[in-house]
Amino acid sequence: VSGRLSDEGHECTVASDGTSALRQLNAHQFDLALLDIRMPGKSGTDILREIQVKYPDTAVIMVTAVLDVETAIESINMGAYDYIIKPVDLNMLAVSVDRALDKRRLILENREYQLHLEEKVEAQTQKIRNSFLNSITSLAYALEAKDKYTSGHSQRVTETAVAIARELGMSEESIEKIRLAGLVHDVGKIGLRESVLKKPGRLTDQEYRHVMSHCEIGERILSPVMEDEEILRMVRHHHERYDGTGYPDGLSGEDIPEGARILAV
Ligand SMILES: [Fe+2]
Repeated sequence: VSGRLSDEGHECTVASDGTSALRQLNAHQFDLALLDIRMPGKSGTDILREIQVKYPDTAVIMVTAVLDVETAIESINMGAYDYIIKPVDLNMLAVSVDRALDKRRLILENREYQLHLEEKVEAQTQKIRNSFLNSITSLAYALEAKDKYTSGHSQRVTETAVAIARELGMSEESIEKIRLAGLVHDVGKIGLRESVLKKPGRLTDQEYRHVMSHCEIGERILSPVMEDEEILRMVRHHHERYDGTGYPDGLSGEDIPEGARILAV
């Protein structure tokens, strides 16, 4: 048996009984064990049981006399890959060994795959999140390029809003939303005419109405990348006033989203 399997390219170790087999299994890692059911000392079934517990990655094929076929079938139920009836047909043996090794490889690969799947999903999620944050940062940069004043302003609004949200004991998730909304709440100013945006002194009524439109423009600019309705609402409503005199919708009191009320401070 050993000679034939060696010819097939397998590296074989022979053990004279169960105890010696276990000693060898303990010393080296084996892909596969061929176990005679009847051995001096511990039986093949005993060894199978121990292999299943201590070396579950070792495939087992039982070798049995015709009389022991029932025990062999029992061994399959216990987790052996196959059984071969004595006298051993070496061709059958080679086929059975190859099949068992293939099956073992698939099982190990599948386990490895399952193990890494979760990590991969996690890494992918992180990538998507980073790409989202990058697109938000990119929008903030775009506004900064148009209006220098706003960059420091957005940063300060964000810091203050986050501090207020913390003080109010809001959840980390809500605080994160407020932080994102703070960074881009004025992004709609990208859509304002520079002559109005940078006009020194008082604005005419018409110019003021133009400035007011930055809330709705901001909501629109962000809507393709921002799936979170709450954040979009914070951006839209950050100029509402508690007494209802704000814009764009003249909301009052608690009709104004809490995040928008915090940003307004
Ligand atoms: Fe604003």
